[in-house]
Amino acid sequence: MKLLVTGGLGFIGSNFILQILKNYSEFFIVNIDAGFFGSNHENLSSINKSKNYKFVNGNISDSNLMENLISSCDAVVNFAAESFVDRSISNVKPFLESNVNGVFTILEKVKKYGKRLIQISTDEVFGSLTSGSANENSRFNPSSPYAATKASAELLVNSYIMTFNCDCIITRCTNNYGPRQFPEKLIPKTIILADSNKRIPVYGTGKNVRDWLYVDDHCDAIIKVLLNGKSGESYNISAQNEIDNLTLINKILSIMNKSSDLIEFVEDRPGHDFRYSMDSSKIKKELNWSQKSEFESWLEKTVDWYLTNKEWWKNLEDATLDSTPWKN
Ligand SMILES: NC(=O)c1ccc[n+]([C@@H]2O[C@H](COP(=O)([O-])OP(=O)(O)OC[C@H]3O[C@@H](n4cnc5c(N)ncnc54)[C@H](O)[C@@H]3O)[C@@H](O)[C@H]2O)c1
Repeated sequence: MKLLVTGGLGFIGSNFILQILKNYSEFFIVNIDAGFFGSNHENLSSINKSKNYKFVNGNISDSNLMENLISSCDAVVNFAAESFVDRSISNVKPFLESNVNGVFTILEKVKKYGKRLIQISTDEVFGSLTSGSANENSRFNPSSPYAATKASAELLVNSYIMTFNCDCIITRCTNNYGPRQFPEKLIPKTIILADSNKRIPVYGTGKNVRDWLYVDDHCDAIIKVLLNGKSGESYNISAQNEIDNLTLINKILSIMNKSSDLIEFVEDRPGHDFRYSMDSSKIKKELNWSQKSEFESWLEKTVDWYLTNKEWWKNLEDATLDSTPWKN
């Protein structure tokens, strides 16, 4: 299968490409990435010379480029997105460009050439839940501009399924953790700051709850959806591993033998959702997916990866220093 992966220089896309090339010799991957915020060429330096891999530097909103790439592939997995909620508060426009206009460009081409599209979405489209878990039919209620653009993309994808009978599937995942995540995100930021005994900023009370899934489990679910998912459907992918930010940060500090005195409470982010939660029984039942990675031990392995791969983040360390990036 010749697979077009978009946004493969980012966190999840790069782990996805590495997982596919490791486990499936029959795949040829073309990775298109614009090198925007969140990307890192180092993520895939180990496979640059692989005969089953090609990198294209480009933007998913470039209609001519996407025409060439999509006409000559078998399927598309769209990871490309502006993904930082904080940055969507300070500047919404790039989020509209990549997360909505980029998806529109892809949809036009998959419609024209009859190709399968897997659109990677997020639990954030359902907004904050005080109790219970969202299933595939729950109502959208996005709070941040990031979540609103991801929900918009989903609505657009759905319209191409309903109106043009396009072969599209949506996956929504909870928070991912693992290697190669850009240092501005909570887990790598905590590890990198703690490593040099710097203050670790925590928004508000730190009681906001997220459900953490190891990135390889997410990638495994996407492969199952790509190969066996039902056209026109959506699948929620979650870990049932809800934990508040403060507890998570304290766990990381304890793994690193660092004091919780490093924690510094800072002004809360506007519109900060309190809790996300999704029910993933559909993908478990229909596609036989289950998570393999037990949280405590894979969090330890994740900490270990950042500490043994300091050259990966040493030029990105500045991204950890801003305690309230949404104010920029
Ligand atoms: N990280 C999470 O916990 C999480 C959870 C659920 C869903 N998601 C979704 O998964 C996808 C990947 O997330 P991530 O954490 O790997 O993000 P990331 O920020 O690490 O990577 C995104 C990549 O997309 C590229 N990109 C952005 N706009 C582009 C454009 N217009 N053209 C080409 N490339 C472009 C960037 O250069 C970057 O390499 C996103 O769609 C995100 O919404 C992420």
